[in-house]
Amino acid sequence: MHAPLKNDRLAWLQGPSAECSETPAARKNPWRLILLGAPGVGKGTQADLLTERLGACHLSTGDAFRAAGKRRDCDQSPAMKAALEYMRRGELVPDSTVWEMVRERSSCILNCGGFILDGFPRTLGQAESLKELMEKEKLALSAVVNYELPVDEIVQRLSGRRTCEQCKSVFHVTERPPQVEGVCDHCEGRLFQREDDRPEAITVRLETYERSTAPLIQFYENLGVLLPIAAKGSPEKILARTMQKIAALASAAQLASQPQSGVIR
Ligand code: AP5
Repeated sequence: MHAPLKNDRLAWLQGPSAECSETPAARKNPWRLILLGAPGVGKGTQADLLTERLGACHLSTGDAFRAAGKRRDCDQSPAMKAALEYMRRGELVPDSTVWEMVRERSSCILNCGGFILDGFPRTLGQAESLKELMEKEKLALSAVVNYELPVDEIVQRLSGRRTCEQCKSVFHVTERPPQVEGVCDHCEGRLFQREDDRPEAITVRLETYERSTAPLIQFYENLGVLLPIAAKGSPEKILARTMQKIAALASAAQLASQPQSGVIR
């Protein structure tokens, strides 16, 4: 069995009353990244790999909602119950519910080891709320990575995805199969297929992405932090492309005597 890939992200997955078994070490220049891209493009897979390399926390709003869905029915607020229904249909959870959840866990965003946001922000409203929070705390984004892939390959990735019930590691039945079918390589948890990876939910998710999330590409381009990256090839190749681009951005920011707003790290 491999060593676990990541810390347990308990505070992010279960809320502020939970404590992570491993908190990120303080860094002089922590990475603060947003991963953008259509559902299934490979954001979660890259977030795991980037976490190993950069040490920043992987914060996925989708994982936090799915963790809330596992709680007993009576422990879920009416807003959370409604959110889980939106997810099942492949629609976006309303901004107010998403922001409430992120705000409750803002210590994960403000932590001194940095973050890799996966699946948030997803609307212009969410992006504005995050910008406001970061400005208030005098924090700057390192970069916004936008992964690009043709739709047919995205559908193929989504329909073959399997996720670990326990540690949330992601596999693919043909592209990244586990060593033992149905069993996680990292923690031996059971692998399952997400409800929103059914064909009808995939269609809704891709339409929703085009309508609500794609406009964020322009939003972050205007802020000078957007890095488009081709999501073709193996995860390791995509990781190498990502590391190369963000390293170039970091050295450009360091070289500039007067760093531009939005790219300061
Ligand atoms: P969320 O969990 O965020 O899902 P998503 O954005 O739809 O993204 P996915 O997790 O489906 O895909 P991914 O890009 O992470 O790909 P992965 O790495 O797994 O959100 C789910 C739902 O929650 C939303 O629909 C919404 O309802 C709600 N929600 C969450 N956040 C919200 C927000 N901020 N606002 C409103 N609603 C919100 O990879 C996919 C597959 O491909 C895997 O099997 C993987 O092994 C494989 N793969 C990855 N990379 C490669 C590669 N290079 N080559 C071959 N296969 C690969």
